[in-house]
Amino acid sequence: MGTSVQTIILAAGRSSRFNTDTSKLLYTLCGQPMLVNVIKALQPLSLPIILVVGHQRDQIMSMASSASCDTLTFVTQEEQCGTGHAVFCTKDQWHADTILIMNGDMPLITTNTIQSILTQHQQSRTQLTIVGAHYNQPHQYGRIISNKKNIEIIEARDFTADPSAHTLINAGIYCIQRSLLAKALDVIMAKKNTHELYLTDIVAHASKEHCAINVVTVEYEHVRGVNTLQELYDAENIKRTHIIEQWMQHGVRFMMPHTTHIDHDVTIGANSVIGAGVQLTRGTHIGSHTHIEPYSILDHAIVRDHVIIKSHSVIQDSVINSHAIIGPFAHLRNSSTIGEHTAIGNFVEVSKSSIGAETKAKHLSYIGNALIGNHVNIGAGTIFCNYNGFTKETTIVEDHAYIGANNSLVAPLTIGKQSITAAGSCITDHVPANALAIARSRQILKDGYAAILRARHQNSQSITIQPATKVERNFDE
Ligand code: UD1
Ligand code: MG
Repeated sequence: MGTSVQTIILAAGRSSRFNTDTSKLLYTLCGQPMLVNVIKALQPLSLPIILVVGHQRDQIMSMASSASCDTLTFVTQEEQCGTGHAVFCTKDQWHADTILIMNGDMPLITTNTIQSILTQHQQSRTQLTIVGAHYNQPHQYGRIISNKKNIEIIEARDFTADPSAHTLINAGIYCIQRSLLAKALDVIMAKKNTHELYLTDIVAHASKEHCAINVVTVEYEHVRGVNTLQELYDAENIKRTHIIEQWMQHGVRFMMPHTTHIDHDVTIGANSVIGAGVQLTRGTHIGSHTHIEPYSILDHAIVRDHVIIKSHSVIQDSVINSHAIIGPFAHLRNSSTIGEHTAIGNFVEVSKSSIGAETKAKHLSYIGNALIGNHVNIGAGTIFCNYNGFTKETTIVEDHAYIGANNSLVAPLTIGKQSITAAGSCITDHVPANALAIARSRQILKDGYAAILRARHQNSQSITIQPATKVERNFDE
């Protein structure tokens, strides 16, 4: 690059058109905060970046730091007096010949687009490049208006001409020579009586000073701004569609892609099938030949090859090894691991537990703080009683153990290899290997007693019950 370049990203605004308590720049698109999208697009260019912060400064700074961009520094705009004022606040930090200014609310911007703008600016040898895009619904944007002599940007609220005749919108990206920026901002800052100081007024100033101005046009999609929740929805839809199309190209079958949500950092192996309404978030990895059935939610999960996740399952922060079958309606969470060929069935919750290979827990169980071996059977309705009101305790179930249906396993507890617990047991003591544990009260049988009970019940029904004394109530009381 011939001349030195530094970048300013504007991120101090109040986001008032969002009508929420949170800065729009903190909202995510496919799991990545809006502003991080912009920082990541700039990162490969290795330019120094000044981020102007103000509204919700601390949250924005910590979120921006999560992008691990070592060329990033911060400047605070104490009062949000407009984009012109925001750039002015960074004045002491300018050192490069060319300053690249970008709005922080264009999350679909790409490295290629920025690189191309910079290249075209340098080739033009002008002092100012502004970026436009053709868009047939330009009402919310500043418009680039030029005639033979002058060029200016007219903000949406000041625009009175026929909107359909002026569809070249200002994208909110500018490359400007440092000395011109300094002069133009001095002029803008002199408008003390104006509440909002527009950065876009630098264009009219440059034009008046007969500076050559270069207008670069880019694809609207890459520079679309996000000022409302509706626009966030539109932008996220575009990003999500790109992500899904990319996985389709890698051999992933989506049954109803328009109902599926996938974060930017999710990975999926070829030949896998993603059902309707599935959500894959926070770096979830899906192996190959794996089926995720409808309405399942996988959040920070690792699912290996040939797994079936049946419908309506929720898997958080957990690992499912190959050939396992999970769900429907299973809930796995809190760093749980499920072994190969293991089956976790309907309405089974697994928390902070490790379950070995070829094990089955197929119906209505809670498995918490458990270390379960291979080839174990957990009967229907079994509850791992892991919490005594103060501490969480561990239950160990060794290989080939058989837990009968409707057991309560009161931790801390070890159930030895190949042991069996009887159905309906409340197990409180360790069970040695190969033992049978029965922990339930004995059944009492009373011959013919059912008929006596039935007769007693019928007699009690035949007694006429006197109605209680009726009390008249006046509803105005
Ligand atoms: C701006 C442009 C408009 C352009 C559009 C493109 C101005 C005056 N207008 O309008 O011509 O078509 O972007 O999307 O620049 N910000 C601050 N401090 C402030 C105000 C804003 O840092 O005092 C930041 C915001 O956080 C945001 C960016 O500047 O990231 C742009 O502000 P925004 O309010 O979104 O401007 P638009 O109305 O979209
Ligand atoms: Mg905007």
